[in-house]
Amino acid sequence: MVSGTGRVLVLGGTGEARRLAGALVADGVDVVSSLAGRVADPVLPEGSVRVGGFGGVVGLTAWLEAHPVTAVVDATHPFATTMTASAASAADLTGVPLLRLQRPGWAEQPGDDWRWVGSLEEAAEAVAGFAHVFVTTGRTGLGAFAGLSQEVLVRSVDPPDPPLPPRTTVVLERGPFSVDDELALLREHGVDVVVTKDSGGHLTEAKLTAARLLGIPVVVVRRPPLPAGLVVVATVDEARAWVLAQPG
Ligand SMILES: NC(=O)c1ccc[n+]([C@@H]2O[C@H](COP(=O)([O-])OP(=O)(O)OC[C@H]3O[C@@H](n4cnc5c(N)ncnc54)[C@H](OP(=O)(O)O)[C@@H]3O)[C@@H](O)[C@H]2O)c1
Repeated sequence: MVSGTGRVLVLGGTGEARRLAGALVADGVDVVSSLAGRVADPVLPEGSVRVGGFGGVVGLTAWLEAHPVTAVVDATHPFATTMTASAASAADLTGVPLLRLQRPGWAEQPGDDWRWVGSLEEAAEAVAGFAHVFVTTGRTGLGAFAGLSQEVLVRSVDPPDPPLPPRTTVVLERGPFSVDDELALLREHGVDVVVTKDSGGHLTEAKLTAARLLGIPVVVVRRPPLPAGLVVVATVDEARAWVLAQPG
């Protein structure tokens, strides 16, 4: 793609999406980043930004027709399955080239006691025998844990919506977190099990190191599968190279 020609839509809400937008803007590419609008005070990427859902496949298809772009990069979170599915369908319908940028998942290391589950509901079942559960899966989907009767520590950027477990303590914080921060938090609340999605990345992995150091098990929610046929890359550099290789 020749600098300054064409427009690229980056579906965002992740650090990778922000870094990609910044790199492309520096390359002279016209970038519009899209955010869902879930976080009250988001860290905004460089370039243009639009906020809010498109209205499913139909809405995104209409948006792509009304705002022609030469390429779409879906850099949403690995668990943003609805947006990823909509992007794949809308790209098929419009013929706009689509790339999925998805960071690698986390890998178990010596000393880890990880218990893989397929959903938040299964994660809630997996923590049944524990007394102090640290739920780090974000503010949405916490209803899956609402039936837990033990102490539950929830951390999220914005206040979580009910229903919450009856004995919930909420910590409002935005990552990145250091291992020392995480060790202090786990000790302060007497946490004996951590629940996480397999989000991957460095911003929130310190909790895994802290759990390993303290010998605390971690319940890890497996990533949902990607739509068939998607072109997928794992790094911002690969995504940038793909965009720059698109015809303007
Ligand atoms: N799921 C997580 O654990 C997680 C963690 C960190 C950050 N995030 C970020 O938070 C946002 C929402 O995540 P989610 O899990 O709620 O996604 P989701 O379940 O896949 O999306 C639900 C709906 O939100 C809208 N949406 C999602 N991402 C959007 C974007 N980048 N731009 C415009 N609309 C978007 C779409 O609405 P319409 O159907 O109306 O288009 C989508 O159908 C995403 O941007 C994601 O990258 C998610």
